[in-house]
Amino acid sequence: MDYEHYFAKRIAELKSEGRYRVFADLERQRGRFPVALNYRDGKTHEVVVWCSNDYLGMGQHPDVIAAAQEALDRCGAGAGGTRNISGTNHYHVLLEEELATFNGKDSALLFTSGYVANQTALSTLGANIPGCVVFSDELNHNSMIEGIRHGRSAKHVFRHNDPENLDQLLSAYPKETPKIVAFESVYSMDGDIAPLAEICDVAEAHNAMTYLDEVHAVGMYGAEGSGVAERDGVRDRISIIQGTLAKAIGVVGGYIAASESCVDYVRSYGPGFIFSSSMPPAVAAAALASVRFLRAHPELRDKHQERAATCKRLLTEKGIPILPSVSHIIPVMVGNAALCKQASDILLNEFGIYVQPINFPTVPVGTERLRITPTPLHDDAMMAHLVESFCAVWDRLDLHKNHPAKAAKAAE
Ligand SMILES: Cc1ncc(COP(=O)(O)O)c(C=O)c1O
Repeated sequence: MDYEHYFAKRIAELKSEGRYRVFADLERQRGRFPVALNYRDGKTHEVVVWCSNDYLGMGQHPDVIAAAQEALDRCGAGAGGTRNISGTNHYHVLLEEELATFNGKDSALLFTSGYVANQTALSTLGANIPGCVVFSDELNHNSMIEGIRHGRSAKHVFRHNDPENLDQLLSAYPKETPKIVAFESVYSMDGDIAPLAEICDVAEAHNAMTYLDEVHAVGMYGAEGSGVAERDGVRDRISIIQGTLAKAIGVVGGYIAASESCVDYVRSYGPGFIFSSSMPPAVAAAALASVRFLRAHPELRDKHQERAATCKRLLTEKGIPILPSVSHIIPVMVGNAALCKQASDILLNEFGIYVQPINFPTVPVGTERLRITPTPLHDDAMMAHLVESFCAVWDRLDLHKNHPAKAAKAAE
């Protein structure tokens, strides 16, 4: 085989479909978020980042930076091993204790990312619980899908956010069959939120465990910010809560929180936990400071929701087609990969606005979009500039007539 030819051909395919991924080369500026420098054409350009998952700007919070600096000074750069072989630093222990109480659970376990947390926890449960059957929401993130696949247990996919369909699928199995219902709270591409209580009702009726990914909710929902399960008062009905430290917490890493025996089980049998070096102590210290701050500062969550609601209103008033998201995520529908990329390029190059195009396979073909994530640090002037710029781009590319029916409905 001509390997080089094969690789080049596959890349050419992506380019011709308009879904070749080009990274924006950014330098984040401490103290200036959401402003960043964009390296392009041999120069730097100031841009406002409108698509960051550092949803609350905690990546630059003074407490977080101070904690990271102090831990770096005390402990040095790396953790020095896997958790089992010299890589458990006291900051990991403190952070796991904090994440357990944060989530209202007995215990928590850290992973190097949210992706690894999902992949490891779900594959370890699915592979080892005898006769286990997993029920997975059809829009679950790739990390959950991969975890379930690697577990090699029987699997059923239920219709998105549809407890009735879940009930039908679960009904095919006797109560004694071990079952896991895996789903997310906030779905990051449409910004919709799962009916947690209804899903718990169904799972409990069939004696199934529940596995909830709170990656796009942690820090932002609930009185202390642990997620939608806290907001909806159903944390004790969720068997395993999974989350990330890389989005609203502003650092990197992932976790699960659950009963002591469940966490101990994943700790003891999960390859993605056992065989990988632990996160640097400074990262754990930074995440710890961030979680502590967020638990004590609900006003940041209020401000975040206000900013998202204001941005949605301003865009809708100008006829920019957004999906009717009930969360902080604002999907602006374009419905065509090439146009989506073109719109994003114009926004970046001419208006200093960075919004990454979201294309297949992240979203289905025909639903390509620009996904806006306002933070508490996006001020009114930035928002006015965003709306004006979107209007200009929509007119220039004649996108008003292009958007799909779903988005058109939202704009009515
Ligand atoms: C729903 C969901 N789960 C898990 C992950 C993985 O988290 P992390 O970025 O910490 O690896 C992501 C990442 O975007 C996600 O969207």
